[in-house]
Amino acid sequence: MPLPHEVPVSEEFTAPAGSAGGHERSFLFVLASTRKNGNSEALAEHAAAALPGDVRQEWFRLSESPMSPFEDIRHTGSGEYPEPTGNDRLLWEATRAATDLVIVSPLYWYSLTASAKLYLDHWSGWMRVPGPSFKAEMGGKTLWGITALASEERAKADPLIGTLHNCARYMDMRWGGVLLGNGTKPGQIHTDLPAVEEAGRFFGRAPVDSLAG
Ligand SMILES: Cc1cc2nc3c(=O)[nH]c(=O)nc-3n(C[C@H](O)[C@H](O)[C@H](O)COP(=O)(O)O)c2cc1C
Repeated sequence: MPLPHEVPVSEEFTAPAGSAGGHERSFLFVLASTRKNGNSEALAEHAAAALPGDVRQEWFRLSESPMSPFEDIRHTGSGEYPEPTGNDRLLWEATRAATDLVIVSPLYWYSLTASAKLYLDHWSGWMRVPGPSFKAEMGGKTLWGITALASEERAKADPLIGTLHNCARYMDMRWGGVLLGNGTKPGQIHTDLPAVEEAGRFFGRAPVDSLAG
C-alpha cells in the first residue's frame, strides 16, 4: 500500500478525496500577508508549482483588494446578510467556485493575520446570505494553510493551526493541514530546505475528514 503522498499526483488530483469523482480541482490561494513577495507567499508558490497543469489556480491578495469591516448583524432584524459587493463579492464568488481553499498567512502573534481573520469572519455573514447554503457548499471543499514564521519552534503556530482546523471542522470541510516554513526577512524561506521540499509534496497529501484529523 503506498502512503497517501506516494499516490501518483495525476490520480490524486482528479477529485477531492472521498468525493464521487469527476470534479475538476480548483485552488484559491488567499494571500494574507501585509507585504508582497514575502515568505508565506514564496512557500505557497513552491507548493503551487507542484500542482498538475490542469488544476485551476486563482490567487487573491487581500492587501490589494481589502475586505470591508465585518459587522455582526445576526440578531438585528431578519438576521440575514445582503449579498456581498465589491471586493467582498469577488472573494465570495471565488471561495464558492473553488474546490480547495488555501489560506496563505504568516504567523502574527501566534495566529492568523488580521486580514485572514477578517476573511474567516465574513464566512459567518456569507452563511446568512439568502440563497444557496454557503455552509453546505463549503462542505465539499478542502481547507489548507501555508504559514511562514520567524520562530524555529513549530509549536508557536499551534493557535493558527487550531483556528484553521476548527474552522474546517465547523464547516464540515476536509482538512489538508498547514505547511510551515521558517523565515523572517523576505527570501529567507528559500533557505529552509525541508520546508521547500515539503511544499513540493504538500498538495499531494490526501486530505482527511476534519473531524477525524
Ligand atoms: C506583527 C507581526 C507579528 C509577528 N508575530 C510572530 C510570532 O508570533 N511568531 C513568529 O515566529 N514570528 C512572528 N512574526 C514574524 C513573521 O511571521 C515572519 O517575519 C514571516 O516571515 C512573515 O511572513 P511574510 O514574509 O509572508 O509576510 C511576526 C511579524 C509581524 C510583522
